[in-house]
Parts: sequence; structure tokens; C-alpha cells
Amino acid sequence: MKLKLLFLTTLILTFAASKLAAQQTPAWAVETPAAKEARMAWWTHDRFGMFIHWGIYALPARHEWVKRHERLGDDVYQTYFERFDPDLYNPKEWAAKARAAGMKYVVVTTKHHDGFCLWDSKATDYKVTNTPYGKDLIAPLVEAFRAEGIRIGFYYSLIDWHHPDFPVDRNHPQWSDDPQKIADLNKGRDMARYRKYMQDQLTELLSKYGQIDELFLDFSYPGVNGKGHAEWGSEDLLRLIRKLQPQILVDNRLDLNDTDWGWDFVTPEQFMPQEWPTLRGQKVPWETCQTFSGSWGYYRDEYSWKSVHQLVVMLIETVSKGGNLLLNVGPTARGLFDHRANERLDGLAGWMKYNSRSIYGCTAAPADFERPQNCLLTYNPTAKRLYIHVLEWPFKSLHLPGYLGKIKYAQLLNDGSEIRFTANTTPGSHTTENSAAGNIILNIPVSRPDVEVPVIEIFLQ
Ligand code: GLC
Repeated sequence: MKLKLLFLTTLILTFAASKLAAQQTPAWAVETPAAKEARMAWWTHDRFGMFIHWGIYALPARHEWVKRHERLGDDVYQTYFERFDPDLYNPKEWAAKARAAGMKYVVVTTKHHDGFCLWDSKATDYKVTNTPYGKDLIAPLVEAFRAEGIRIGFYYSLIDWHHPDFPVDRNHPQWSDDPQKIADLNKGRDMARYRKYMQDQLTELLSKYGQIDELFLDFSYPGVNGKGHAEWGSEDLLRLIRKLQPQILVDNRLDLNDTDWGWDFVTPEQFMPQEWPTLRGQKVPWETCQTFSGSWGYYRDEYSWKSVHQLVVMLIETVSKGGNLLLNVGPTARGLFDHRANERLDGLAGWMKYNSRSIYGCTAAPADFERPQNCLLTYNPTAKRLYIHVLEWPFKSLHLPGYLGKIKYAQLLNDGSEIRFTANTTPGSHTTENSAAGNIILNIPVSRPDVEVPVIEIFLQ
């Protein structure tokens, strides 16, 4: 009975709090839709970024949640802190690979849920400069990626399984179903002090490294034994972030989805939406984050790696629905991308070298362009070009339903060779059908072009 009451009260409080958040836009957050669009213009154009999950969890090499999954105590987890020494770390190599793969921005974990900090934070001792490696990892990374023309984003975990003031909750490694145990563990833990810690750390991150283009805060799980915007102090946090970096783009994991001002884009994770995601009936900017193999941190024995083909299709599909792809690499404890990651990045580079025009500056095609069989469409509204990504190369004819009068010129994107097209076929002894009125047939070569996914570039009328 008591539990039920507690549950109901929490539910009501959560509901009330979410309504509170929905109240009018605070003065500091007022922005016209046009101004927001301009702030997001680089991101909407660039479409493709590299996520990097790196930390002391690269040593156990069995998921970045290993501390929680295996309920490791601080003492056991400390082993990895004491052994962290990525002697082969060279962020210039990482940046070169990202650039070759066509990635235009990077988002790197500055602190993950385990609380370990990859920079020399003044707010804690639990940081890389106190490991055997002894040096800041973030500054050289920022410099190396910027030198390749890649924009910088920081991932910062709201969750912290190391901080003594972070109350143990249902996601915490020390979580227990025994309420008394939790009460004992949480005695003296002070969320207000932890909020101050987050503010101090974000102040460092957003003032020491020049312009930061994206901030990926992770994540909220409001409700019973969880944490949401009330616990994080999300509104204050966001106000601080916007003050320090007015142009920055912030994800939607602060638990402010009820507002129009508390997030810049939504973040479907390891999930491909069926169509352009909407919120309150409006299409919204979105960035899907995806892994090569399932975990984010380096996982030696994970074998569910996606093929290059799957990844190329994932990128195309994301853009075909108006989104961005943030594709993750989990470097090893020595500081390298492992051979499986390199193979994928090289594959993406091979495709992007010839086909990036169908990604950058592109979005979903207007609704009056029907998707041909086994194809995905992207569209560049400025250049007025349509890109047909042919997933299965058909024999000789690619039928474009309703495209009559819309095409000026067509070519294969990988080699710029002309694709001729016809409006009609005459049924005869060798053909079976009339091309329906309004349709176009592209006369494609019999041999499939030698790229992961061939693209046909259509110059529209
Ligand atoms: C999740 C996971 C995490 C990962 C993140 C990436 O919320 O907790 O391990 O960092 O998603 O988006």
C-alpha cells in the first residue's frame, strides 16, 4: 500500500514537473525558427559524424557498461584506472581516418557513466592525468580533428557511477532491490553538490577548447528510482551551456522533450526510424547514433559487426529521411582503432570518395518523387538534384514512376557517365508492357558499377 502510494506520488510529481517544463520559453532561450535553422545549418548540411567512445572501459574490453553489467565495485574498477596507458594514441591518425570516411564532425566522450574524465578537470582527481598515461587526451584530439577541418562535439555523461554525491539509482552498479540498502548507500549523497560538479565540468569543457559545435548529454530516465530534468537541473544547465557557447547544438537527453527550447535535435539510438521523426506533429532535426558492432566502448569479443554495405546503406537511409548519422568507433586500450573498425572506415571512405555529393547538403526527396523499386532517394534542394541509390542493380531498365518531364540529365555519380532515358516502350515480341504514361526508364548498363551502392544523379528540370 505504502509502495503504491509512493509510486502514485512520484507519478504525479513527474507529471507536474513535465508540465512545468512545458511552460513558456524562458527569456534566455527565446529564438526564432529561422535563427535556429541558421544555427543548425552546418549540421544539416554535413550529415555525417564520428562518435568516439573511449575510456578506461577499453581495458576490460567488454562493454562501456561493464561496471554496471558485472556489478563491479569501485575497488575492482580501479584496476583499469591504474593500468590506463594508451601509448599508441595519435589523434592525428584518427582524424585522418574520419576525414577520409567523409565524416565532418566528431563527438568524443569526455566523461562516460563510469565518471572517468579524459581531460584534466580541476573538479576531480578521477581523470586521465592521474593514470599512468598522465596526459590530457582531449586537447590534442580537438587540435588534430580541427586541423582536418572537422567540427568538434563533446559527449558528457549526466550519469556518474563514481561521484560520491551521485545518488544510487536503478541504473547504478550498486543498485539493489532492498530499499534499506539503497537508503544506507544514499545517506549523505547530495544531488545539489553533484549538479554543481556538472556545472563546473561543463564550464571547463565549454571554455577551454574554443568553439564546441555539438554537446551530447547522456541521458535521462525519469520516474521511480530514475533521474530526469528536476534532478539534473536541466534548465540551469542548458542556460549555462548556451551562455558559454551560444551557437552550440544540444541533444534531447536532458528530459526537456516537452519543451520547444530544451533541445536542438532528437537522438534515436541503434534504431532506424521508418520515416522522418516527428514531435507534436512536426518533423524535427534528428541524429541517429549507431555502432559498428553493438557496444560503444571497445569490445574485443563482440562478433556482431555490420558490413561495409550495411553501413553505407545506413548512411544513405538516414539522409533519405532527413537525418544525420553519428557512427561510433571504440578505440582500444592502446589508443588505436582496431582492424575491424579500420576496415569499415576504409569501406566508407571508398564509397564517399565518389558519392559524397549524394549525402552533403542532401535531405529527403520531395513527396512527388516516388521511390523506384529497391532504391533509396536523397535530394539536394539547392542544386536541384535527385540521387537514386540503387540497392539492387536491376537488369538494363530502371523504372521511374511518374518522372516524365522532371529530368534534364542523368549520370552515374561514380564516374560521371551519361545515363540515357526513354519515356516509352512499345510492347512487341520482345517486351511485355507499355511503360505507363508519365513513367521514365533509365537505360542503365548491364554491369553493376563497382561501388558499394551505385548512385544515379538526376539533374532536375
Ligand atoms: C546510451 C548508453 C551509452 C552510450 C550512449 C550513446 O545511452 O548508455 O553507453 O554512450 O547511449 O548514445
